[in-house]
Amino acid sequence: MSGAIYGGDEVGALVLDIGHNTVRAGYGGEDSPILDIPSNIGIWADSQDDVGEPRYKYNIGLTAIHVKRPGMELVPFLKEGMVDNWDMFENLTDYIYKHALGAVPCDHPILISEPPWITPPKREQMAELMFEKYKVPALYLAKNAALAAFANGRPTCLVVDSGATHTSAVPLLDGIILTHAVVKSPVGGDYISMQCRHYLEEKNIDIIPPYMISSKELTKPDEPASWKIKTCLPKVTESWHNYMVKEVMQDFQASVLQVSDNLYDEEVVKSMPAIHYEFPHGFHKDFGVERFKIPEPLFNPTTSAKAGIQPILGVGPLVTTSVGMCDIDIRPAMYGSVVVTGGNSNIQGFNERLNRDLAAKTPPSMRLKVISAAGAVERKFGAWIGGSILSSLGSFQQLWVSKQEYDEGGKAIVQSKCP
Ligand SMILES: Nc1ncnc2c1ncn2[C@@H]1O[C@H](COP(=O)(O)OP(=O)(O)OP(=O)(O)O)[C@@H](O)[C@H]1O
Ligand SMILES: [Mg+2]
Repeated sequence: MSGAIYGGDEVGALVLDIGHNTVRAGYGGEDSPILDIPSNIGIWADSQDDVGEPRYKYNIGLTAIHVKRPGMELVPFLKEGMVDNWDMFENLTDYIYKHALGAVPCDHPILISEPPWITPPKREQMAELMFEKYKVPALYLAKNAALAAFANGRPTCLVVDSGATHTSAVPLLDGIILTHAVVKSPVGGDYISMQCRHYLEEKNIDIIPPYMISSKELTKPDEPASWKIKTCLPKVTESWHNYMVKEVMQDFQASVLQVSDNLYDEEVVKSMPAIHYEFPHGFHKDFGVERFKIPEPLFNPTTSAKAGIQPILGVGPLVTTSVGMCDIDIRPAMYGSVVVTGGNSNIQGFNERLNRDLAAKTPPSMRLKVISAAGAVERKFGAWIGGSILSSLGSFQQLWVSKQEYDEGGKAIVQSKCP
């Protein structure tokens, strides 16, 4: 191929890390993304076209999705980590370029993350959109687990990514994913949010999102809350209300929950300190054993989950199953570098429990090392940070798929150039 390699700047690349909870965007070479916006988008029919079909409008970004608009649904554009609604994704991308970053797409190469199980047609559609509509000068599609491994300086490792919708164990050899040994469970932060909601409802604790509250007064712990509902609330959709409830749950789970060091034992956790938590409507109390009980199914599925899916594999067995599917020669390298990433791994005690569960299962001849970034932000932005480092490396510049390569080779070029 003639002079097709992108010889572009080492700075100025855009890095887009797409997740079910949020989408992270910013410039390569920076420490953290500029933008971390909800992946759920507000959608409502504004008018009808000539043949009576609805014309949709979108509310995108943290502030816009909180607008109480009657009839606005709040829905994800992803399914299984892959773009499912391309119209919504285009609107989100427009928003990121125009309103959030103020960037012109043709000025910046773009690195986009994708899940390890991405399908070839989805990758090609992404390439087509980026080159044809946005006219980007160069593109790279990178597996999010590989980026997280890179951020932790471990091109050969096993990445445990616990995000919003799933937890996965992804082995990598020199930065390349061993696809046949990827193991995934549909249990992540959203599942924990659902368990929290179920638990609180069972205890008759109301979950009132802030949008409903006009005023509240201080009451004693455990006493019914004293609050007033806003008058003239518009008729919001169920999906919008549920998202507002989920936000309350996400705060509760980040503030209160902790994973027990060992298999959950009520007698042991009774002696652990309780945490005092106040809900938006003013109700407040101490949470004790439930702090540990709620997240336990993440590690130990036999503890009955109360709502929704029943996890099959705990995080430890997810790792051991994945390692077991790897070639015997590389198993020591996998156990020797278990990289933990994803927002849900920020639940207190996650690493310690994983370490213990794996230590009990790792053959004595193998060294076990569980690694994760020190700060919660670095864990949550693991894949983005990896993309930021990679896209600004001098040696990476020749790996971009250039516009010229795309024009000459067609959209399938991403399959060969982006492993
Ligand atoms: N400090 C915290 N403690 C507990 N849970 C947290 C904390 N911070 C974030 N989370 C949870 O992490 C999840 C989001 O993680 P992350 O940003 O990795 O997801 P994502 O990449 O958007 O989603 P996915 O990987 O499913 O596509 C949410 O469910 C959130 O509640
Ligand atoms: Mg993720």
